[in-house]
Amino acid sequence: MKKFYLRTMGCQMNDHDSEVIRGLLLSQGYDETEEAEEADLILYNTCCVRENPERKVYGNMMNYKRLKEARPNLIIGICGCMTQQKEELQNILAQLPHVDLVFGTHNIHRLPELLARAEGGERVVEVWDEAPYDEEGQDFRESLPVERGHRLKAFVNIIYGCTNFCTYCIVPYVRGKEHSRLPESIIAEVSGLVEAGYKEVTLLGQNVNAYGKDLSIDTSFSRLLAELNAIEGLQRIRFTTSHPRDMGPDLINALASLEKVCEHLHLPVQAGSSTVLRRMNRGYTRESYLELVRQVRQAVPGIAITTDIIVGFPGETEEDFAETLSLVEEVRFDSAFTFIYSPREGTPAARLPDQVPEEIKKERIYRLIELQNRISSEYIQSMVGTHQEVLVESTDDQGLVGRTRTNRQVHFAGSEQLLGELVTVEITEAGTWTLRGKIVQPQG
Ligand code: SAH
Ligand code: SF4
Ligand code: F3S
Repeated sequence: MKKFYLRTMGCQMNDHDSEVIRGLLLSQGYDETEEAEEADLILYNTCCVRENPERKVYGNMMNYKRLKEARPNLIIGICGCMTQQKEELQNILAQLPHVDLVFGTHNIHRLPELLARAEGGERVVEVWDEAPYDEEGQDFRESLPVERGHRLKAFVNIIYGCTNFCTYCIVPYVRGKEHSRLPESIIAEVSGLVEAGYKEVTLLGQNVNAYGKDLSIDTSFSRLLAELNAIEGLQRIRFTTSHPRDMGPDLINALASLEKVCEHLHLPVQAGSSTVLRRMNRGYTRESYLELVRQVRQAVPGIAITTDIIVGFPGETEEDFAETLSLVEEVRFDSAFTFIYSPREGTPAARLPDQVPEEIKKERIYRLIELQNRISSEYIQSMVGTHQEVLVESTDDQGLVGRTRTNRQVHFAGSEQLLGELVTVEITEAGTWTLRGKIVQPQG
C-alpha cells in the first residue's frame, strides 16, 4: 500500500484543510505515515503569513532532494497558502525542480486527479485564483471526505476567505474573498458530527463575526450560534477568530446567554496604539477595544480573552510600543500569540518607508513576552482551588486529559469510560500552561 507523509503549517483553517486532504488520500488507497523517509508522497500544506515558516519549507524541501534521487517514483508536493502567491509559486517551481505536485487552497478537491497525473510522471501545477461556487453559492468543499484528527471535537468551517485587508496581512490575497457557508449546510454538518459521537465543535473563519454578511438571506453569526446551540447532544461550541470591529452587542449577548458557547474569546488586538491600529487598517482604536473588553467581561464574567499582537509594525515608535505594553497590562489577556512584524510582498505595509530594524523588533518582543508570561502565570495560578467544568477529551499515561470551558488543558485521574463526558474537576496544581486536578463530580 502506498503511504503519504503530510505536514501542516499555519492556522486552524489549514489544519482543517489537511483533514480533508487526509480524507481524499485515504480514499485513493493511500495510508498515512509519520516518516518522510518511507513515504511515496510527501506533501506540505504551507502558510505564508510570516517569512520564517516559508523559509522552513524551502529548507526541508532541499533535504528531500536526496530522497527523490534515491527513489525517483517519490512524489513531492506543496499546497496551501504559499502556492497562491504568484511570485512565490514561480520561486517554488524554479528553486525546487524535484517538487512535482503543486496545488492551491481553492482546488483541494482536485487532488485525486492531480495525484494520478503526478504518479504518471508529469509535473503537475494547478493553482486557482478563486474557489468555484455554483449558483446557490455552494462549493466543492461541501461533499469532500474528511479524516478528522479527533473523535470528540471537530473543526467546522463557517466562512472562507477574508476581505479585511489589514495592511500587514497576506491572507486576503491567498484565501480569496469572504464567503459564508449556508446555515443549513453548517447545521447539517454539526448534526452529523453529533450523531457520530462528537461533543464539541470549533467554528472556523478568519473573521467569524462577519458570518452571513455576504449571504442574500437574513442571518448573522449570533443567529447561527443560537441555531447550533439548539442541537441536542452537542455539548460545547467554540469559535475563532473574532475581529473586534465586527463584535456587536448581539454576539456579546449570545456569548452570555447560550449555554453551549464556551467562555473563551480570541480577540486579536494587534497593537495598543491607535495610530498604529489606524495604519494597520484595523477599524478600531485602543479606546474602543478596551471598551469592548469591558462590555464582554461585564456580560460574561470569568471569560478568558486571548489575543494576537504584532511588534515592529512599520513606523512603530518606542511610545507606540509602550502603549501595547500598557494595553496588555490593562486587559490582562489569558494568553497571547506574539509576532515580529514580517513584511509580506504585495501588502501595503511592506512598502512603507520606516521599517523597524530587526534588533529593535527582537528587543520589543522579548519585553512583551516577559510581561505576558507573568500575567499568564498569575492567571493560571489563580485557578488553583476552583471547580471547573471539563470535557474529557483523551487519555495519557497518567490518566485523563480535558479542557475547561476557558480552553485550559487539565490532567486528572479517572476512568477511560469518562471519555466524552463533562465532569467537574477541582484544580489542585498549576504549571506554566497546564493544570492538574481531581474529579469531584461524578465521583472519580
Ligand atoms: N484572521 C485572524 C488572524 C489571521 S493571521 C485575525 O484577523 O485575527 C494570525 C495572526 O498572524 C494575526 O492575527 C497577526 O497577529 C499575525 N500576522 C499576520 N500578518 C503578519 C505579518 N505580516 N507579520 C507578523 N505577524 C502577522
Ligand atoms: Fe489578515 Fe486582517 Fe483578515 Fe485577519 S482580518 S486574516 S489579520 S486581513
Ligand atoms: Fe497561514 Fe494561510 Fe492560515 S497564510 S495563517 S495558513 S490562512
